[in-house]
Amino acid sequence: MTRDEIYSSLRSKLRDVVPEIELRYKAELAYEIIRLKKEKNALILGHHYMEPALYHSIVDITGDSLELSRAAAQADNKIIVFCGVRFMAETAKILNPGRTVLLPSDEAGCSLADEINAEDVRRLKAEYPGAPVVAYINTSAAVKAEADICCTSGNAVSVIQSLDAENVIFLPDEYMARNVAKETGRQIIVPVRSQRRAGSGGGPKYRIISWHGRCEVHEKFSTTDVENVRKQFPDALILAHPECRPEVVAASDFSGGTSAMVRYIRESAAQRYLLLTECAMGENVAAAFPEKGMLRLCSVRCPHMNKITLETTLESLRSMKYVIEIPEDIRANAARALERMLVAAATDKLT
Ligand code: 13P
Ligand code: SF4
Repeated sequence: MTRDEIYSSLRSKLRDVVPEIELRYKAELAYEIIRLKKEKNALILGHHYMEPALYHSIVDITGDSLELSRAAAQADNKIIVFCGVRFMAETAKILNPGRTVLLPSDEAGCSLADEINAEDVRRLKAEYPGAPVVAYINTSAAVKAEADICCTSGNAVSVIQSLDAENVIFLPDEYMARNVAKETGRQIIVPVRSQRRAGSGGGPKYRIISWHGRCEVHEKFSTTDVENVRKQFPDALILAHPECRPEVVAASDFSGGTSAMVRYIRESAAQRYLLLTECAMGENVAAAFPEKGMLRLCSVRCPHMNKITLETTLESLRSMKYVIEIPEDIRANAARALERMLVAAATDKLT
């Protein structure tokens, strides 16, 4: 693709989202990245939260955490550049250890993944012996290595239902655990630092033991946001990521992972939507469905996803950084938990 072709393609998708002067500059960066990607035999994976110009120019495969894990597992390129955050790049390395996996910024972590470590999981396992551990994909490799199975926002309910167990340890997102407990009719227990809090819902027999992790982006959305948008735009459908507070999910019209939201909008006839998730995704969806109106709440951004830009991706390919390394014993154990999820998703159509 020439520079002009990249610019024209970006312009056709983003002319209502990104000013032209910026598109010219971004097209130059994208051209250089695409050139280097071919030269080095690299595959670029991009999460839905990436900035629009990056998402719509250099990425070979876009998707949610589950789709990108599958793509990473199957990649036969020498290099995988992960335009996402650390736990996603680690997942790629765990599933495809023979590839060089690059994360364009060393600072692209995740507040949710940082809330729990392997020692916390070992303590919970000792307290609830025999309870299978489900690790949300937003966890470190060391936490996944302690788990029996992983899950993503797209298959958390099905993964829990597939486990024939009275007690399930589900980590680390308290709100997602509460949302899942509600959908599966289970009682929830969340250890809050030194004491324990038992939540409502379900009978006492089937329990989800969770953790007090929260996403710094999704926890900010409130029912007041939902009420205000409904007052101003009564025709808008409101979609909430399951990392949002349970009362926000309950007040919304639909809850699902990022790709489930995209599918919902594609299939819905409504003219206007509000996405309660990272704002860049609203911009990417607006570009994909120009005939549909997308409302955005952009005061809360994911500071980690925002570290990945065309500039950092270009530098990543030029200087081969930051290379993801995981000790082999941790990688092998984490791979077992991730592969169980991928097998279950493939056979039981979990997503
Ligand atoms: P998805 O798996 O739904 O893409 O979500 C990832 C994430 O980090 C949400 O904050
Ligand atoms: Fe982590 Fe939240 Fe950012 Fe997703 S949006 S990567 S859960 S901090």
